[in-house]
Amino acid sequence: MIKKRMNFLDIKSTEDDFQLATYKKMPFSVELGKGTWVWTSEGEKYLDLYGGHAVCATGHSHPHVVKAIREQAEKVLFYSNLVYSEIRARAAEKLVSVAPSSLKKAFFCNSGTEANENAMRMARMATGRQKIVSFSGGFHGRTADSISATFLGKYRKIGEPNVPHHAEAEFGNIDSITSVIDGETAGLILEPIQSMAGVREAPPEFFSKLRELCDAHGAVLIFDEVQTGIGRTGNWFFAASDLAAEIEPDIITLAKSLGSGIPVGACLVNESISSQIKENDLGTTFGGGMIAMAAVLATLEAIENDTMIENALAVERCLRNSLKELKKVKAIHGKGCLLGVQFEGPCSHIQSALLENMIITGTSSDPRILRLLPPLCVTEAELSKFVEALSKI
Ligand SMILES: Cc1ncc(COP(=O)(O)O)c(C=O)c1O
Repeated sequence: MIKKRMNFLDIKSTEDDFQLATYKKMPFSVELGKGTWVWTSEGEKYLDLYGGHAVCATGHSHPHVVKAIREQAEKVLFYSNLVYSEIRARAAEKLVSVAPSSLKKAFFCNSGTEANENAMRMARMATGRQKIVSFSGGFHGRTADSISATFLGKYRKIGEPNVPHHAEAEFGNIDSITSVIDGETAGLILEPIQSMAGVREAPPEFFSKLRELCDAHGAVLIFDEVQTGIGRTGNWFFAASDLAAEIEPDIITLAKSLGSGIPVGACLVNESISSQIKENDLGTTFGGGMIAMAAVLATLEAIENDTMIENALAVERCLRNSLKELKKVKAIHGKGCLLGVQFEGPCSHIQSALLENMIITGTSSDPRILRLLPPLCVTEAELSKFVEALSKI
């Protein structure tokens, strides 16, 4: 039986009837995606500078990634970590090969929050301690331990009762951490650029000092690179780059861009952590499944083949250059394809006006900051459409 195509109003009313209303949605339904563009059920075309919430780093439906997923699907969709798999072996090897040199092993899971839960668990296992320090403005996910480490707006409250032994320090403020970190601290977790808080940055010295403090107290340093990782900030990872004073954390957590849209998360760990993790300490049914692994390997290859990391830096240069002409833009924060455009006052009406101009952007918890998280393959010509639309708003 051929099903009748639904139009947007049918799709909207059916979703609204059958899905919990946990998201404020944009007023269209996405049907197709290619590169930096998406097409709606009604055939309209939007420039996507939000990248499906920082997920579509390789662009929508990158042909290399689609081919890899299709070919894998025809072989076997899934088998768990109870068996070996060539595609898993290749994906893990490739991911470790682009990681900071001390991070030599991967644990695969399904999402950013799950990667952070496992990272904090490993920190506790490795140190025999319980306390986790995290930072005001950081976002780490919505499961129990991750939301308890999220000192941002309403999130901890939503997650009550919170997991005990979490402590807050001020992002970018070394004195604040010095007063919170101690001999009871298992680990310190942070977003090296706080995206949701409004693309807040800290200077390289902050990261070198964090490394020193963690070493002095025997605490595990965890970088949540769910947004900054996989090329977005102009390096494979924020860790080990000059932005981080070249320091390496003990654990990096990843998700979002890692599978170009196939749900997958990972923890990358160094030898001092991996040597303490035994059989059955961590696990998850779907982690390391074949489709996800095909997506990870192809994502990393596509980023490399299409020189997208270099392009992420060109995107930043181009936007910084062209936006400085616009009086209404007060500052630009961030790096590569993780940028926050700051206006004088609240900017949600600017986001709405851009949407009317067929351009998707994001807001943040700082009402003055418009967030850009475009695919890493966005071109200068596409960016100039954004700049032109913004200049007319
Ligand atoms: C920095 C950061 N960490 C963790 C998460 C949680 O990831 P997920 O939604 O895949 O659980 C997010 C999601 O937005 C994030 O931005």
